[in-house]
Amino acid sequence: MTASQRLLSVRHLIKQLLLPKYVRTYYEGRTENVTFRENEDILDLNIHGEILKFPYVWLRDNCQCAECFHPTAKSRVVDWAKFNLDSKPKDVIKDENSLQVTWDDGHESRYKINWLKLRSFTDKHRKNYNDTIFKPTKKTWHGNNFQKILSKHEFSGIINDDKQLFKWIHDLSVYGVALIKNTPNKETALDSVVQKIGFPKKTHYGTNFIVQNVPNTSNVAYLNSNLQIHVDLPYYEYCPGVNMLHCLVQTSSRGGENLLSDGHYTAEYIKTYHPEQFKLLTDIDVEWSDIGTEQGNEFFKLHRAPVICLDKHGQIERINFSIPQRGSHFLGPIEVVKPWYKAHSLFFKLNMDFAAKFKTDAGDILVFDNIRLLHGRNQYEDKPNNVRKLIGAYVDWDEIYSRLRCLQLKYNHNDELV
Ligand code: OGA
Ligand code: ZN
Ligand code: ZN
Repeated sequence: MTASQRLLSVRHLIKQLLLPKYVRTYYEGRTENVTFRENEDILDLNIHGEILKFPYVWLRDNCQCAECFHPTAKSRVVDWAKFNLDSKPKDVIKDENSLQVTWDDGHESRYKINWLKLRSFTDKHRKNYNDTIFKPTKKTWHGNNFQKILSKHEFSGIINDDKQLFKWIHDLSVYGVALIKNTPNKETALDSVVQKIGFPKKTHYGTNFIVQNVPNTSNVAYLNSNLQIHVDLPYYEYCPGVNMLHCLVQTSSRGGENLLSDGHYTAEYIKTYHPEQFKLLTDIDVEWSDIGTEQGNEFFKLHRAPVICLDKHGQIERINFSIPQRGSHFLGPIEVVKPWYKAHSLFFKLNMDFAAKFKTDAGDILVFDNIRLLHGRNQYEDKPNNVRKLIGAYVDWDEIYSRLRCLQLKYNHNDELV
């Protein structure tokens, strides 16, 4: 105990002695800004007039001392077999920046006030944490506003400046799309961008895949015909989160434009104006499938999930859509077949209506959320001296959000986050 803590402790003791007897009973305590009582399980903390409540069991579980929380592994190391769910504070001292709790078994815990605030149980504090640190709030868009929401980022900025890297990833997470410009004309350039995030997601199409017109292809994307709006690889249970398409050579023929539609915007629209179709699209599982051989490796992938996947809060978790990769085994009851097809058509038609259409330039990397946006490409023609060529890679959202939070930590110097 330092001298100032000892002083605080003494002051606390004097205060306790001066308090009326009924407040001073064993386990009941009150310092200026903290209230805790024997018969309750929650401690009230008054921070500049705002009362924040922290259950004793939670405080004890989240003790930050080195015995309970490993300082470099940043992980709880409490021996759970010995954990007492009924621990109660014997003494509590609060100063401007920290809270010190002495438990009934003599264990001492200390918490920074800002650390506690960030973990407060109030809706306001939880929302703040959810929207900033957990995942930035998404903003949906209609294709008419595409030019306004599409942010453009320099390749060299992303590679050399972490602030620009942060901005790009942040925009990507909010809008589901962010364009990189002036990428060197090298097949390895995309790898450098992936490395700035972390790790690529390898699939049966490889770590990188070339999108070019190849006859007798293993994937309809490798043709020059119209590529209807879709998400890539919906037949993966762990579907790649983000798709990056580096345009090495763009076609000078007509066509070759990309279509992009915000599946969340469309889903919300259907929920509002066509609730029955929304129910079908969220309830009925579809079997997504891909069967074939790629570079000598055979694959037979199946995944079952609705077109619009909702989480337990009713929020959209993932969009699945791909006409070529929708299997032929219908999974719902026979009487919903026709209504489901109508709902599926509505989803397709609205996404086409809401889609933005644009053509990337050589040097662009089109980066988009593959479990939120639908993308497509118009038919084009190759010529001997102009063969359209893209190189693609995937990265998972786990890696992207992780990088975003690390960068946030770096710039906000907010060590209360961990
Ligand atoms: C794909 C794809 C887009 C394009 O390969 O899955 O969507 O512009 N390609 O060729
Ligand atoms: Zn401890
Ligand atoms: Zn695709």
